[in-house]
Amino acid sequence: MNEIFHRVSIRRFEARPVEREKILQILRAAMQSPSTGDQRPWEFYVVTDREKIVELSRCHKYAGCAANAQVLIVPVYRNEGLWLPEYAQIDMAIAQENIWLETDSLGLGGVWLGIAP
Ligand SMILES: Cc1cc2nc3c(=O)[nH]c(=O)nc-3n(C[C@H](O)[C@H](O)[C@H](O)COP(=O)(O)O)c2cc1C
Repeated sequence: MNEIFHRVSIRRFEARPVEREKILQILRAAMQSPSTGDQRPWEFYVVTDREKIVELSRCHKYAGCAANAQVLIVPVYRNEGLWLPEYAQIDMAIAQENIWLETDSLGLGGVWLGIAP
């Protein structure tokens, strides 16, 4: 799988929008991830609003590069209703890696911003 060897963190971005179909494909890749007991704890917020992107880029000292991104994908999970909540962060990390690899595969660049825990 070439993306494993090709992907690197990208922190500078071109000022052109990302096609909706590419965003959907990235989300599909995320949700294709395996999860503990198939609990699929994830939800993904896709942020394209410029003001919100800038606001989010200020929420952590290492997130500044997000300010110039066209799209932020914010993966979240809730503990309620999960069968094995203690595994949710592992599930989320796998989904996040799928997001990153699919992004690379579509010719886009991105970086994982570690806001959590
Ligand atoms: C869990 C996790 C959290 C990370 N958090 C940040 C972050 O907050 N800001 C950032 O610029 N890069 C972040 N990164 C990217 C790493 O710095 C990067 O993956 C590492 O330096 C290796 O470089 P590469 O991705 O180009 O191979 C994070 C990566 C991971 C896996």
